[in-house]
Amino acid sequence: MPATDPYALAHDAAAQLASLTGRDRHDVAIILGSGWAAAVPELGDPVAQISTTELDGFSAPTVAGHAGTMSSFDIAGHSVLAIMGRVHMYEGRSEHDVVHPVRTAIAAGATTVILTNAAGGLDPTWSPGQAVLISDHLNLTNASPLSGIAPPASAGPRFVDLTDLYAARLREVVRSVEPSLPEGIYAGLRGPHYETPAEIMMLRQMGASLVGMSTVLEAIAARHLGAEILGLSLVTNLAAGVAPAPLNHEEVLEAGAAAAPRLGRLLHATITALP
Ligand code: HPA
Repeated sequence: MPATDPYALAHDAAAQLASLTGRDRHDVAIILGSGWAAAVPELGDPVAQISTTELDGFSAPTVAGHAGTMSSFDIAGHSVLAIMGRVHMYEGRSEHDVVHPVRTAIAAGATTVILTNAAGGLDPTWSPGQAVLISDHLNLTNASPLSGIAPPASAGPRFVDLTDLYAARLREVVRSVEPSLPEGIYAGLRGPHYETPAEIMMLRQMGASLVGMSTVLEAIAARHLGAEILGLSLVTNLAAGVAPAPLNHEEVLEAGAAAAPRLGRLLHATITALP
């Protein structure tokens, strides 16, 4: 019977991950968002690959572009776990389900968590394919992964400080390999509908320059467990009303597929530059 406590469930999944991959520990985890799966071949040849459904607490994703696999890589002395198969609250999943991959990776040893996503861009000077470093977020999901069951003492207090949630140090590491990358504040909404132009105007007033349906809950859960977080958005479209064209999910996936090899090389170079 899988554990019902989400923290115990993540520990069980991490133990299963270790035995299925033959690796005791992964120190870097990458969560790959919509369209980012095609970046994975740039990370090299995986030393192990499993289906996420082999681990407790993971169920098959329902969204096109989110295959449920985990691959383990050796990159410049780091053991890197690439997780494809994010789940979202709009699939009817709980906030604990959404952050289970991140909690599992941290239970497996990850101290650096790289969260990637596809996002709408609010900056009209950006084009689809632009990569942006997340400097901060607006959690507009009306949810927290720290609600509900009290975390175990080992996890730290649930009233967690989110100042510098997206580590400035890691943004500098990325800039050392790609100096031109812009930064932006990511607004995380529940979706699955895209926003109205009026909502985009509101988000811009609030300081956002990226909008999407993931990442914010995972970042909170990862920080709560003490990991350092790097957030990377791929702008797949200009947000509603910023450009005249209507939005669709195929466009998001196509922009991801086109940009993915470049993003994969960026991830590889970033991990290589990590201390
Ligand atoms: N809005 C919300 N989520 C998204 C978008 C968008 O424009 N593009 C990709 N994910």
